[in-house]
Amino acid sequence: MQGIGLHIVLVGFMGSGKSTVGKLLAEALDMEFIDMDLYIEKQQKCSIKEIFTNKGETYFRKVESVALLEVLSNSKRNVISTGGGAPCYLDNMNLIKLNSLSVYLKVGRIRLIERLKNDTERPLLQNKTSKELLSFVKTTLGDREKYYSQADIRIRAIGSPEKIIKRLTNYILKANL
Ligand code: S3P
Repeated sequence: MQGIGLHIVLVGFMGSGKSTVGKLLAEALDMEFIDMDLYIEKQQKCSIKEIFTNKGETYFRKVESVALLEVLSNSKRNVISTGGGAPCYLDNMNLIKLNSLSVYLKVGRIRLIERLKNDTERPLLQNKTSKELLSFVKTTLGDREKYYSQADIRIRAIGSPEKIIKRLTNYILKANL
């Protein structure tokens, strides 16, 4: 399938499958894939976890926003998977909407908790009891939903990545971009 004329930006909560789906979608559309977290780690020469520990979340959000602007300014069209918080800070969601076809990979909170409960890498999830994780996901997803749901396409991202890609490419073809 031929790539479309716009970037495709995937948004959604941590654990919603943005990186896995993004990589496969880029292959299916014959486009380049950019994972924003990896992009930032390469640029900053340290892990996201280290950035949070050494410089704090506010610094990370600034770096994330600048990196997003850089990637969206690229004249080559890419499939971009964003970090779960990216659309919810600064003017990022407007920037995404102006410069891409955006896709919200929607996963319910019970499934998200199941996927995230043993995570050892994501800074926002560390040192939490099961009860705290439950409350964090409930509150944070509740706060973020208003940003995620502004995406041009919203799909329930459950089932195999292949099935999700099939549904997604159908939507993209219908969007006729
Ligand atoms: C974050 C999500 C992470 C990463 C950082 C903060 C968030 O990305 O950007 O740990 O605020 O939800 P993933 O959604 O790829 O895990």
